[in-house]
Amino acid sequence: MTAANDRVGAVVTGLGTCLPETVITNDEVSRHLDTDHAWIHSRTGIERRHRVSAGTSTGDLAATAGAAALKSAGRDDCDLVLLATTTPDRRCPATAPRVASRLGLRAAAFDLSAVCSGFVYGLSVADAMITAGTCERALVIGADVYSSIVDPGDRGTAVIFGDGAGAVLLERGRTGEPGAVLHTELGSDGTGDDLITIPPRGEYLTMRGSDVYTRAVTTMTESARSVAAHAGWDLADVDAFVGHQANLRILTSVAKRLGLPRERVVSNIADVANTAAASIPLALADAAAEGRIGSGDRLLLTAFGGGLTWGSAAVVWSGAEPVQDQRS
Ligand code: UT7
Repeated sequence: MTAANDRVGAVVTGLGTCLPETVITNDEVSRHLDTDHAWIHSRTGIERRHRVSAGTSTGDLAATAGAAALKSAGRDDCDLVLLATTTPDRRCPATAPRVASRLGLRAAAFDLSAVCSGFVYGLSVADAMITAGTCERALVIGADVYSSIVDPGDRGTAVIFGDGAGAVLLERGRTGEPGAVLHTELGSDGTGDDLITIPPRGEYLTMRGSDVYTRAVTTMTESARSVAAHAGWDLADVDAFVGHQANLRILTSVAKRLGLPRERVVSNIADVANTAAASIPLALADAAAEGRIGSGDRLLLTAFGGGLTWGSAAVVWSGAEPVQDQRS
């Protein structure tokens, strides 16, 4: 038994999601923009995305996904709520305390801002807090409503993003158990902070797509390789690569560089598009619901996004049954 198998650590025990009911197809997006389904699908893999109704916020989606993750684990409380988001309900205060109170909790609660890497950052922080004994049980929620920050007239971003939320419950356990978070690592390069940004005094997100694409492929490959090595895994032993769903071509390029066959790449981008901090838990939930991942599977999670930020996690899947919810 290796050291990774016999220490105290965080274990994933629940998985929940929330998608808005309204679905917007590529054809619908193309009615208002100089683009078409063929371009969007061939360049990104996206076919449709979910969008919130007026009045529905990140906090609404986050609270529903958080409740779903607690239900999935058969729990009704936790002592930390960590919300990764770029679209908080207000600039001040953080959205997480209200999410916690809507779940009936007086838990420690804070927001984390790491754009599309937010969920992996949150997983790493919660894992460290649980392992250190700061908390026992943590909800890590990734939730974003990019429809509130995307320029509907910008075809470079309007076709790519969707709204949604996903959450996992982490509990103190042992790293030899199914569900264990074996290793995480995070990174950033602030010299690229203008590649994905809401400019000062600007209203909308801007993205230099092809520059981000190139850096995403290189960095995600390095990060995934490194976290697998630290977890003591050969890449050939990875059962599923669950990358941030920014672009199907990015995911397949990274998998190819890692030597992973196409069937080990988890992707639900066709149905949900790029949901930023929600993307990895939404992909996990669809994969679990379809039986593509099961208890004991070795999962490599890797994200890349604005900041620039990136992060990876090596997780042994718990077999948690996802609870997948919807709201307007
Ligand atoms: O989630 C956080 C991290 N984000 C990412 O990882 C996103 C990474 N980037 C991408 O996924 C891709 O760069 C995009 C999907 C955003 C764009 O695809 P691309 O293949 O890199 O296109 P491009 O930006 O290099 O543009 C190629 C052409 C341009 O036309 P010209 O100048 O060659 O005439 C664009 O104007 O495609 C044009 N174009 C479009 N055409 C039709 C850009 N967007 C569209 C569009 N429909 N929606």
